[in-house]
Amino acid sequence: MQIYLSRPDITEKEIEAVCSVLRGPNLSLGPKLAEFENAFCEYIGIKRAVAVNSGTSGLFLCMPTLGIGQGDEVITTPFTFIASTTTIMMADATPVFVDIDPVSLNIDPAKIESRITNKTKAILPVEVFGNPVGMDKICEIAGKHELVVIEDSCEALGSALNGKKVGTFGKISAFAFYPNKQITTGEGGMILTDDDELADMCVSLRNQGRGKGDSWLSHERLGYNFRLSDINCALGIVQLSRMEEIKARRRQVAKWYQEMLASDSRLIVPVEADGCDISWFVFVVRLKEEFTVQQRDKILQDMKDRGIQVSNYFPPVHLQPFMVERFGYKKGDFPITESICERTIALPFYNNLTKDEVAIVCKTLKEVLDNS
Ligand SMILES: Cc1ncc(COP(=O)(O)O)c(C=O)c1O
Repeated sequence: MQIYLSRPDITEKEIEAVCSVLRGPNLSLGPKLAEFENAFCEYIGIKRAVAVNSGTSGLFLCMPTLGIGQGDEVITTPFTFIASTTTIMMADATPVFVDIDPVSLNIDPAKIESRITNKTKAILPVEVFGNPVGMDKICEIAGKHELVVIEDSCEALGSALNGKKVGTFGKISAFAFYPNKQITTGEGGMILTDDDELADMCVSLRNQGRGKGDSWLSHERLGYNFRLSDINCALGIVQLSRMEEIKARRRQVAKWYQEMLASDSRLIVPVEADGCDISWFVFVVRLKEEFTVQQRDKILQDMKDRGIQVSNYFPPVHLQPFMVERFGYKKGDFPITESICERTIALPFYNNLTKDEVAIVCKTLKEVLDNS
């Protein structure tokens, strides 16, 4: 028996949509690109959407678009997927970490102001695991200090805070569509903004620096090839059209886990805070403080040995070897992040996980914990 950590949810409708692009003449820069972008604008309620070939490309393009580069600092979280940080560094800017709130696992807004310097240009918060808690407060602080917010919404498509959709908090935001995400395009991403100038710059930068109306071999600026093909867009259009169904399924799986695990005193089980509507990217439980990282790692291995795929989302970004080498970070620099990272267990989580499978995962986890 194998229960996977994550599985895409592709129906015949997606397969048909992709095949119909393959039967036609436009595999890239065709009509599906604008259709996907327009559908995204409508779903989120934002003026402009620019499709790119990954969440990483999307976040990175925010940097030159906002004029962020060498000598600039961007405040961000050390508890995230690596790309939130590396996209700042790719632009030659410096990531400045702020420790997280131990409940929401997002940047602790109360700790931001002490990290602002005259080099700070932006705050890059992440809705970790899809949880939007704190975004309103972070934007308030950014506004007070005239800083731009680059919202890393790569894990949070469909989440909202007090009725405001994720992706609308920042001046600019980015989503990701790798197959473990709420919707997938195989690989892909989307940049969102209400600002036409920023969106036009992203359109140019994703397409080799070509300007509006330029010919194929005319380039106004240094650009990249971060285009998303019509094949990917066709897949994304159908996935996005199923978003409410997808969100309902994910919420159901999360509810099963909550019901089956909430009473286990060894675990901290994620719940939705007041005002939050979470679309659930992953389901990450945490071991209580008395467990060591060695015990957690043994639990992960025992689960895998029993056919249940699990993971340690996330190791601390600041303690990755290249970050230690470059910035000299050490253990103890961001103690809340480090303590959380040592005790997380990401459980199998995807749309089509059945109640019986969730029950097997929970039963196995309890047995493994009994033996640890
Ligand atoms: C928070 C966060 N930011 C950025 C990314 C990067 O997205 P991609 O893998 O599409 O480049 C991810 C992807 O997992 C993510 O979780």
